[in-house]
Amino acid sequence: MHRNEYRQRRKRLLGMMPENSIAILPTSPAHPRNRDVEFPFRPESTFHYLTGFDEPEAVAVMIPDREEGEFLMFCRDRDAHAERWDGQRLGLKGVRRRHGVEQSFDIESIDRHLPDLIDGRSCIFYTIGNHPALDRRMIEWISALRIRSRMQPPADIVPVDRLVDEMRLRKSETEMDAMREAARISARAHERAMRICRPGMNECEIEAELMHEFMRSGCRSPAYPSIVAGGANACVLHYVSNDCVLEDGGLLLIDAGAEYRYYAADITRTFPVNGKFSPTQRDLYALVLAAQEAAIAAVAPKNTLEDVHQAAVETLVDGLTGMGLIKGRRNDILKNHRYARFYMHRTGHWLGMDVHDVGDYRVKGEWRGLAPGMVTTVEPGLYFAPDERNIPDELRGIGIRIEDDVLVNEDGGEVLTAAAAKSIEEIEAITGTGSAS
Ligand code: GLY
Ligand code: MN
Ligand code: MN
Repeated sequence: MHRNEYRQRRKRLLGMMPENSIAILPTSPAHPRNRDVEFPFRPESTFHYLTGFDEPEAVAVMIPDREEGEFLMFCRDRDAHAERWDGQRLGLKGVRRRHGVEQSFDIESIDRHLPDLIDGRSCIFYTIGNHPALDRRMIEWISALRIRSRMQPPADIVPVDRLVDEMRLRKSETEMDAMREAARISARAHERAMRICRPGMNECEIEAELMHEFMRSGCRSPAYPSIVAGGANACVLHYVSNDCVLEDGGLLLIDAGAEYRYYAADITRTFPVNGKFSPTQRDLYALVLAAQEAAIAAVAPKNTLEDVHQAAVETLVDGLTGMGLIKGRRNDILKNHRYARFYMHRTGHWLGMDVHDVGDYRVKGEWRGLAPGMVTTVEPGLYFAPDERNIPDELRGIGIRIEDDVLVNEDGGEVLTAAAAKSIEEIEAITGTGSAS
């Protein structure tokens, strides 16, 4: 992303901040895995959204109308010994040159400088809960300042998310391009998985194929742990063990998306392990697909995610009633959510830098209208758990979800993930036709 894009974002944020306020934004803390080893570092999304800086141990500070500079950064300074072990750092000078920082400080000196920057501010924009260690220090600094009592009246602490989440919800052209690329790469990965899948393979072998396609396309990480769920495992919504053998005659549900330049894709496809839907699987798949198509058609400016959800639910309910799986009056089934034992999640969520992205779903208690630049998933499903009572045996252990990512535009929606095979014909034509080489 171009430096200018980050500068524009900061300008918007500074423009929304009241006089005499300060915003403090740490990147993600390190997460120890075990002795001397940490989980891979990934910058905090809002921090990265505003700074473009992706080193660990950094805190960005923004202060509107400050003469010495409005954009400050606490980060690691250069250190030949540390860089020999852990890799290069930009350092204090580098972060000013590369990222438009106006004043930089060594992160080691934050205790000395940050209290002075906070002192006397009437509002502190800081989101508590993302960085427990910094939360504790913030409380100490603010308490110490209160005792010194120069800070009058006591400052409000307001989550900075309140300002930035609305910005992140509506994607710029550059962000849309990054999301299109994440979607394209992820669609390719799903097709690769379909082509390679054979009965007898392990779920994690399929996961390896997804990772192969992500990484060779420049994505070092999935946007979330891939769900590769054969047979009844698909009925566990957040199944991530991915360690079972794929049975002939079963379905495979894959929910996986790449993270490209810190933007997520989120795709689910469900297909027969042996390449051919059984009649029951086919009927249920066709129903979920019809529900998904109805829901995608409802993605348009001014409609709400509730409209999208209702479109999916109504189609599913009509289908399930037709199959005799739910009995009763349509209105009663819809009103009392009597479909929920087979469809227990919602149809969409915001997508962006985070897979479950930021942004309010309701405004003043009402579902918010969709608007160009927002991105939502559309992901209806049907799940018949193995221990489900009062259903035909052949349904038990079937889980189906179909998920695409849709960018709202002036006319309706652009399906970013359209390249991933989805129709019964396409799926049957490609599943099992490829080799793993
Ligand atoms: N992959 C998580 C979700 O679909 O919400
Ligand atoms: Mn999703
Ligand atoms: Mn998903």
